[in-house]
Amino acid sequence: MTPYYHRDDVAIYHARCQDVFACGDAPVVQTLITDPPYFGMEYALSVLTGRVPYDEAQDAQWLGHLCAWYREWLPLCREMIEMATGRAWIFASPVHLPALARTAHLIQWPMRQCWFAPESEALVQFGRPVPEALAAAVGQAVAASRHPSRKEAAVLDAIVRASGDGAVLDPFAGHGGTLVAAKRAGLPAIGIDMDARACAAMVTAWEAA
Ligand SMILES: C[S@@+](CC[C@H](N)C(=O)[O-])C[C@H]1O[C@@H](n2cnc3c(N)ncnc32)[C@H](O)[C@@H]1O
Repeated sequence: MTPYYHRDDVAIYHARCQDVFACGDAPVVQTLITDPPYFGMEYALSVLTGRVPYDEAQDAQWLGHLCAWYREWLPLCREMIEMATGRAWIFASPVHLPALARTAHLIQWPMRQCWFAPESEALVQFGRPVPEALAAAVGQAVAASRHPSRKEAAVLDAIVRASGDGAVLDPFAGHGGTLVAAKRAGLPAIGIDMDARACAAMVTAWEAA
């Protein structure tokens, strides 16, 4: 698949990540960092705010859809990471966390660590365990962050430092914060997003970094 943008140390694909993985062009990487789309959040927020009454059967069906959605891409992501040494870092809201944890369990991909930003998202790490001091630095950065949709540079930098050398992949790359953090660390990066505006923003952010 032809990248939307390509330089020696960066490739950006304007596509669904499932399609990029399926075509086999993206290389296996050392690190995957991603903030997946907030699929199904509208329903979850409607229940939380009381706009939709809680219904057990409907809720179970919603969780089933969410798990099926994770199952579409999580196994593919695992295959993109160096088996012995690689690490994956996935942001998940409290609403998504059960579906992520359950899907990971079903595909036998153990969660290594999980950090929580107060009243906000969790950051879950898979793959090779992280040395204690680097893990503590990630935890501190997460605890100090407010975790808006655009991930904070301090959090991404701590994750990249804890991941070791090698290429970094973000399959739901949005505005490109992951790519920029990789560039700051002198590492090659691959970003994928199905949204044209996100891809354009990624190029701008990467060139400006
Ligand atoms: C939560 S946002 C990422 C936000 C990111 N942290 C940032 O700093 O901008 C998720 C992104 O995933 C993209 N997306 C959704 N489904 C996708 C898919 N199947 N493949 C690739 N990108 C997808 C959306 O266009 C969106 O930009």
